[in-house]
Amino acid sequence: MSKRQKLMVGNWKMNGSLAANASLVAELLQGMAEVYCHAAVCVPSVYLSQLQTLLAGSELALGAQDVSPHESGAYTGEVSASMLKDFGVRYCILGHSERRRDHSESDALVALKAQRALAGGITPIVCVGESLAEREAGETEAVVKRQLAALIQVNGHCISEIVVAYEPVWAIGTGLTAKPEQAQAVHAVLRAQLQAASPHADRVSILYGGSMNAANAATLLDQPDVDGGLIGGAALKAPDFLTMLKAASR
Ligand code: PGA
Repeated sequence: MSKRQKLMVGNWKMNGSLAANASLVAELLQGMAEVYCHAAVCVPSVYLSQLQTLLAGSELALGAQDVSPHESGAYTGEVSASMLKDFGVRYCILGHSERRRDHSESDALVALKAQRALAGGITPIVCVGESLAEREAGETEAVVKRQLAALIQVNGHCISEIVVAYEPVWAIGTGLTAKPEQAQAVHAVLRAQLQAASPHADRVSILYGGSMNAANAATLLDQPDVDGGLIGGAALKAPDFLTMLKAASR
């Protein structure tokens, strides 16, 4: 078992409403008594203010799902790191495959966003992962190494402050989960790359994401380099997310 305390992060994606968020959070906070891992929810930016209030004084940290690579200025529609910080944001998901796909986010842009988040005192959770075609072509290692290399190139000096999430694209929202040994194999590759870049690489949490659920979380979390989870669908159901938080608290 690794020395790193587990981190479990709910990625709400574009889901929620004022009413639904309030009842989900109330149910989560009621069930936190036996939770000893780090935990966070990354919510749509319009709900950060609501969530800041709902989570005040709790053990559940607040996260966002994107940040602008710019500090401030004429960037219509963008949200800066300092704005996120104003609402008590601790984590920010960056480079999620849905943003890489739908907003053409490049490895270089994701690395810049991570730099901006770090400068604003926010921990980036940077997603890497291969598509099904890339896995079938035997390119998994090359793809995740390329994505991580771009991050290290820009943020190498503070890489130990970044969280990495391995999310195989073929496993996201599909119900297809990487087998624990498949996840571990990629996590080990990422760990070795981080170790080559920083003497503090052992501190970096590498999360697994992609159809992680209440039934499969424990075996994934038992892998030596799986330091937590980035959870989409199952994080919207309080009993399931709580089961997973408890699996990470063993
Ligand atoms: P999923 O999503 O758990 O619904 O597969 C994970 C993610 O996209 O972060």
